[in-house]
Formats: sequence, C-alpha cells, structure tokens
Amino acid sequence: MNIVFANIALPRSGAVAVLVAEGGALGKVGKDIDKKTGGMLARAIRADRFEGKVGQTLDILAPNGITAARVLLIGIGKPQDIKPLVAEKAGSVLVDALAKKGDKSVAVAIDEFSDAAMQVADIAAHVGAGARLASYRFDKYRTTLGERDKPSLTKVTVMCAKAPAAKTAYLPLDRVIDGVFDARDLMNEPANSLNPAEFAARAKALVKRGLKVEVLNEKQMEKLGMGALLGVGRGSACESQLIVMHWKGDPKSKEAPIAVVGKGVCFDSGGISLKPGAGMGDMKGDMGGAAAVFGLMAALAGRRAKVNVVGVLGCVENMPGPDAQRPGDIVTSMSGKTIEVLNTDAEGRLVLADALTYVQQKFAPRAIVDLATLTGAIMVALGDANAGLFCNQDALAAQLTGAGAAVGESVWRMPLGESYDKKLKSKFADMQNIASSPHGGAITAAQFIQRFIEGDTPWAHIDIAGVAWLSGEPKPSWGTGFGVRLLDRFIADNYEN
Ligand code: BES
Ligand code: MN
Ligand code: ZN
Repeated sequence: MNIVFANIALPRSGAVAVLVAEGGALGKVGKDIDKKTGGMLARAIRADRFEGKVGQTLDILAPNGITAARVLLIGIGKPQDIKPLVAEKAGSVLVDALAKKGDKSVAVAIDEFSDAAMQVADIAAHVGAGARLASYRFDKYRTTLGERDKPSLTKVTVMCAKAPAAKTAYLPLDRVIDGVFDARDLMNEPANSLNPAEFAARAKALVKRGLKVEVLNEKQMEKLGMGALLGVGRGSACESQLIVMHWKGDPKSKEAPIAVVGKGVCFDSGGISLKPGAGMGDMKGDMGGAAAVFGLMAALAGRRAKVNVVGVLGCVENMPGPDAQRPGDIVTSMSGKTIEVLNTDAEGRLVLADALTYVQQKFAPRAIVDLATLTGAIMVALGDANAGLFCNQDALAAQLTGAGAAVGESVWRMPLGESYDKKLKSKFADMQNIASSPHGGAITAAQFIQRFIEGDTPWAHIDIAGVAWLSGEPKPSWGTGFGVRLLDRFIADNYEN
C-alpha cells in the first residue's frame, strides 16, 4: 500500500473519506462535500444513525455533485480523546472497508478539530500508519484468487493542512511497520519453508540494511557447551542455528547494549512427548519470539535508531526421531547447570536458557528482554488481550507496560517467587524442565528461565503464546507481529539518545 501525504483537495476520482467527530458534526471538508452533494452527508448520517464513534464507518455511494465514486465517513470519537491508537484505528477501518471495493485509491481528509488532543499532522501520520498496517496480506501461496478477492486499493492519500509535517512524523512509523511485516511474513511462512537455516538466511539479508549478523551452527554451539538448545534440535533433520543480530546505532556510546532474545522454534511437534494432532499446524508459529526480535532489529536499522541493541534468536525444530532427546535425559547447559528433561515439549525454555547465557557472557547487556510463545498456560491466564510479563525489576516492568499500552500491544505483569521456583527441583539434576505441579505453568516456566539470569541484570520475559497469532476465521494475516512495536517503543522511550 502506497501511503502519501498531501494538502486538502477533493480528488476527482476514486474514493474520498472524512473523519467525523462523535455526535456526527462534520468538519470543514465534510461540510464542503455535504454542500456540493445537496446535503447528502447529513441525510445519510441521520438515516444510518451514524454517531462518529471510534471505528464506525458509513459508506455513501455514487454521490451526486462530486466526481468521487464514494464518500466514506469514519468515526474518530471525541476530539479531546484522540490518541495515536484512535487515529490508527481510523486508518485501519478505512482500509478494511475499501480494500476490495473496486476503488484503486482513496483520499482521506483530516480536518482540524477544535480542542483535539493531538496535532493534525500527528493524527494524519497515525491514520497513515493504521492504513498501512491493515493492508498487510499473505497471499504468497494462493494460486486461485479471483479478481474480487484481490485488493483493489493500492494508494491512500492522507490530506491535511500540515502535509510536510505529517510526512515527517510518518516516516519512522513506516520503518517500524516494515519490521512488523517482516515478523508477520516469518510467522505465516510454513515450517517446510522456514527452517532454522532459512531463518538465518533471512537474517543475513538484513546486513544490507546496516545490521551486523552472525550465525552459529551446531558445531560452534557444541564448542560453547549449549547442550540445552542442541538437545531440542537433535530429533530434527534441520540444523539448529543461533542467530546474533547487532544494531550499533550509537557507536560512540560506552554503555552496554540492550539485549533482546527470541524463542525461534520453527516447528514444535512436542518431540518424543508428542503433541496431540488437533491444532498442531499452529506450531509453525512457535518462532514468534524470534520473529519479533527480527522485526525489531529491522525496524531499528530502518529508522536509524541511536541506540545499541543485540538480538539473539534461538532457532531449532523440535521433532521426534531416532536421535531425538528422550524424557528423562539430562543435558548440560552452557551455564554449566544440568537439566533433567522430563517433557520434551517444554523445549522453549531449554532454547532460551542457552541463548540467554550466550548473550550475557558475550555482551554483558544492561538489560535483557526475552520473547517466547512459551506456554499454553499463559493463554489460560490472560487469553489473547495481554501477553504475560515476568520481570525481576519494577522499573523495567513499568517501561514495558507503558510501551505496550502506547502501541496497543498490552502486557500484564505476572508474579515470580520462591514458592514457584522450588517446583523445578529434580531428583537427579540441578533442575527439571517441567514443574512438579501443572498449576501456574506460565509462572514456573518463567522461573526456569530466571535461573539462567546472572547477578541482578534487569530482565523481563514476555510470554506471547496467546497473542502471536489469531485463532478462528482466516484473516489477511495469521501472524500478528506482536512485539515489534512494543519493543521498538520500549527502546525509543527509554534507551535512545
Ligand atoms: N510452544 C508451546 C506453547 C504454546 C502452546 C504456544 C499453545 C502457543 C500455543 C510450548 O513449547 C509447549 O509445548 N509448552 C507446554 C509446556 C508443558 C509441557 C509444561 C505447554 O504449554 O503445554
Ligand atoms: Mn513445546
Ligand atoms: Zn514450543
């Protein structure tokens, strides 16, 4: 989708859209169109009980008196309550409403509302961002799409009195959306195409955008003693890969980098502790944490963020096989700690354990955030409206919670504590990879990970199992890209110079 910014001028063709405040009062452009069409807008608003609430739309077809094919009214709510997410919602409903309606272009007018809570240029930028986010589709493997199933809309012109300022405000948002789309592409790709080696190849392709990318193969990981991560990949024909992506946007800084670590299980069959068949296809998305880290690194490079961040992606495939690890096996992690693997389906924590030790030993980061589709239990606790946040420091938890709220990727803090940790006691090794009780499974998983955090390094673990993909009816994108905008905002607000 091509998003452009321009001064206000009614288009001669295509569709025209206007934002309408709650109560249905038209702005300057709306009034102008209403006049030209002989009062059609005001009549349609009354006829359809359109109230201008956030997300409401009213499609007025073939209006007389103007040449545009249709006028779409989009509710924006109360001007004093307009926030970036409200403006993005307006952009997304615009694209949802018109994507397949036949129009190739739409021009949306952003009026100056009196006492609006945001500057008109910022509203326009976020309308553009919402429109582009909603335009994502993953049609790569569809060979039989009919003409009417393909989107017709290719261009959104966002019109406002401050077009150059709007464009400037939009640019960094656009680069972050590039990262979101990268993450969605990775999520949607099936595991027969996106295995750990392909993941690494896609990471290496980001070198041309200015990132430093290093990939460790199994031999190199063996040398480092990564028995926990390597154990998970043993049943697979695909070689495990540890992908290290470095963005050095602040080369003069003496400060240690921020580290982000992602679970990249390209397919999670459960291994010898095989999962039941129903819904197993979703486990191609068990690399959602790694996808988010990848997307974040692309976003940081795209908008040339003045900050140093290292991303580590633990990419493996968890399969049964003659050489797969067995329940009862004991592995030695890179940290030296031994783990009794009682359930091969609790594999994400094994991958994260070694990835976390690696990033700490190699980079001594000032803070670590890991993302993982780690447990079904977090979906029981929080559903799909919040990811689970586990954190050893209140200040870091507040930063992440604030960033999530600002971009619409909410996280909800969960507890940690000794009474959960002790459930990981093993009969034979330093710990076991599942708790002695199934209750509080997301928390005991987080406790397991915390055992690999050294000293008092600020650390947060975000369990994204409930938010990384959309269940139910097919949508243009199954993968959400959750985490890219959250982490980007977290870094922009707290660590960028
Ligand atoms: N990848 C899964 C968690 C998951 C489940 C993500 C459903 C998204 C949707 C993880 O590897 C897993 O299998 N976890 C087990 C842990 C259990 C064996 C302790 C789980 O949650 O059942
Ligand atoms: Mn599993
Ligand atoms: Zn998993």
